[in-house]
Amino acid sequence: MEKVHFTGEKATMLGTLFGRALDARRADPILGDTAADEAVRRIDYDFRKLGVNENTAVSVAIRARAMDEIAGKWLSEHPDAVVLHLGCGMDTRVFRLDPPPTVAWFDVDYPEVVDLRTRLYPERDGYTTIGSSVTDFEWLDQVPGDRPALIVAEGLTMYLTAESGGELVRRLVGKFPSGRLVCDFFSSLGIKAQMVNPVVRRSGATLRWGIDDPHDLERYGLSLVSCLDASEWAAGDTLTKLPTASRLALRATALIPAVRRMGRIGEWEF
Ligand SMILES: C[S@@+](CC[C@H](N)C(=O)[O-])C[C@H]1O[C@@H](n2cnc3c(N)ncnc32)[C@H](O)[C@@H]1O
Repeated sequence: MEKVHFTGEKATMLGTLFGRALDARRADPILGDTAADEAVRRIDYDFRKLGVNENTAVSVAIRARAMDEIAGKWLSEHPDAVVLHLGCGMDTRVFRLDPPPTVAWFDVDYPEVVDLRTRLYPERDGYTTIGSSVTDFEWLDQVPGDRPALIVAEGLTMYLTAESGGELVRRLVGKFPSGRLVCDFFSSLGIKAQMVNPVVRRSGATLRWGIDDPHDLERYGLSLVSCLDASEWAAGDTLTKLPTASRLALRATALIPAVRRMGRIGEWEF
């Protein structure tokens, strides 16, 4: 068993990991991330204290699945890509998308988080972990800059400041010849309402960067491709797998634009 003592934003990734594990334990899972469940069983931590339960786990699973779909589609057309998975936490996206070894995949998070990853997950060809804050920009020197890039950040942007997040995007766009950025983000209302998020509250993390208009990121050289609000993350067969209470909650969310835009997933090209 691995003991962990994370606090603040580093602890939040235990909440999302647990959410994916709970989803994997359902008879008809949305994401079916059994590796997340195996990891949870090997970590000595009271996961329930972060406030994620069988109902809230659904939102973690639908966000991850929606982002897998967007990222996986682009990646299937770019087998020579570099992938930067920023604020990766204990997410097993590299195993779920399972890219060919021609793809150079980098998982980036704080050193303590990356250390836990390397103790629990196997190595694989084309896969590298980098232990650094994403805003200590020297880590970018370890990444080849001559190939198209897929940059994925799930549950990260809100922990950055507008200044450091903007500078990160500017440097990423400048580093590669072309690519995609896929990330979720909160509106300023989502940032104001952070205390209603049990994982944020109980981990003692602080959310900072709110983005009300995804076109705002275009000032860094990006061009918006698509944007899904929270009521659109679950579609097709994902929708049919939702427990009734979650489906009703999603319908209610869809009725109030400011609420459904509190959390969105954007895709930009550069
Ligand atoms: C909500 S968790 C999401 C983790 C993972 N993407 C997932 O979906 O399970 C936020 C993650 O962002 C990481 N994080 C926050 N600020 C960071 C920074 N400045 N540099 C690197 N990682 C950061 C935290 O350590 C944590 O792993």
